[in-house]
Amino acid sequence: MQKIIFITGGAGFIGSHVVRLFVNKYSDYQIVNIDKLTYAGNLENLKDIENKENYIFEKVDITDEKAIFDLFAKYKPAGIIHLAAESHVDRSITNPSEFILTNIVGTTNLLNAAKKTWNNDFLNKIFYHISTDEVYGSLNDEGFFTETTPYSPRSPYSASKASSDMLVRAYFHTYGLPILISNCSNNYGPNQFPEKLIPLIINNIKNMKPIPVYGTGCNVRDWLFVIDHANAIDLIFHKGIIGETYNIGGNNEWKNIDIVKTVCRIMDTRLNRESGTSENLINFVKDRAGHDLRYAIDSSKLQNNLGWTPSLSFEEGIKLTIDWYLNNLEWLNNVVSGNYQKYYQDMYEK
Ligand code: NAD
Ligand code: TYD
Repeated sequence: MQKIIFITGGAGFIGSHVVRLFVNKYSDYQIVNIDKLTYAGNLENLKDIENKENYIFEKVDITDEKAIFDLFAKYKPAGIIHLAAESHVDRSITNPSEFILTNIVGTTNLLNAAKKTWNNDFLNKIFYHISTDEVYGSLNDEGFFTETTPYSPRSPYSASKASSDMLVRAYFHTYGLPILISNCSNNYGPNQFPEKLIPLIINNIKNMKPIPVYGTGCNVRDWLFVIDHANAIDLIFHKGIIGETYNIGGNNEWKNIDIVKTVCRIMDTRLNRESGTSENLINFVKDRAGHDLRYAIDSSKLQNNLGWTPSLSFEEGIKLTIDWYLNNLEWLNNVVSGNYQKYYQDMYEK
């Protein structure tokens, strides 16, 4: 019998890569993608696997408690990989409440539904919660986040993710729910919504629009190629020790301004533009409120205990990413114009 695995947020950026990996790799799993299809959810991301026999899509909002309980009753999943979330810091600054609802209440609904469905029979069950390094707060020039770094979230987004992590841990300690958590650094790669730094600047450079760099551009992020994150999730789901947390990161720190200049240089070459054309688009703008200075992950636990390593250098990954966007301009234009939401209606509502 096929094992049923729920993946929430599977139409989003990271979720779509996780769904693809699991659907293609595990024919003995039935993958149920649960996604509300917010502005960030895009079924076009999954066109290549949507007709596979071991894939099912359920358009459900995780904040809808009854709908979530019904789904658990219908499928009785053995595992949940939970990625659905509001994920963009700038949106959390303008509308924190939506983040509280989806990231905290939505996660709690899933925890309650899993607890009820499994009814203390936790053998071969897993509730795997996908989180972010932003829960640890902001670093100065030195040091790294480890799994034991105290939580110190500083944006509504990171505070809502920290709360959900704490709830997941509380269900492990209180009810014995078999949980796993991973906290990953900034992801980049194909299918990322162009509100996040890297796809936003690729899109702007392509269209000769100003590149907004917050503050001085000296904030530092630790970037990981999305497929390396998906591979880490696969490994942790299958080999992780129940109750444990794993940090995931590429040991790949960049100042924002250096990332921007790197993308500018590659784009000039790819678009046959005179060298320096794209850099001229750089526009320093007002800083983000409460902008965290630096994130840097120590992923040695994952590397030493489970044998994970990133497969790509940043130089390789960023070129692959830029080429993917330039070869998928229709995807990009659909996303920017909101047209991709029509894809769902055409696919599922006609
Ligand atoms: P994303 O914004 O691209 O996708 C989120 C997905 O969740 C979308 O498909 C959206 O439709 C769905 N969703 C949102 N609210 C929902 C709801 N109420 N019910 C059902 N579905 C809902 O996000 P992402 O960048 O792919 O991030 C996925 C997960 O990974 C998030 O939990 C995020 O916190 C975490 N994470 C992201 C990064 C990163 O760099 N992007 C890094 C570390 C961790
Ligand atoms: P982002 O991709 O939003 O990820 P996060 O805030 O979760 O790290 O932003 C990455 C960095 O780039 C962050 O320091 C904010 C900065 N940034 C800009 O300078 N300009 C932009 O237009 C955006 C979206 C981000």
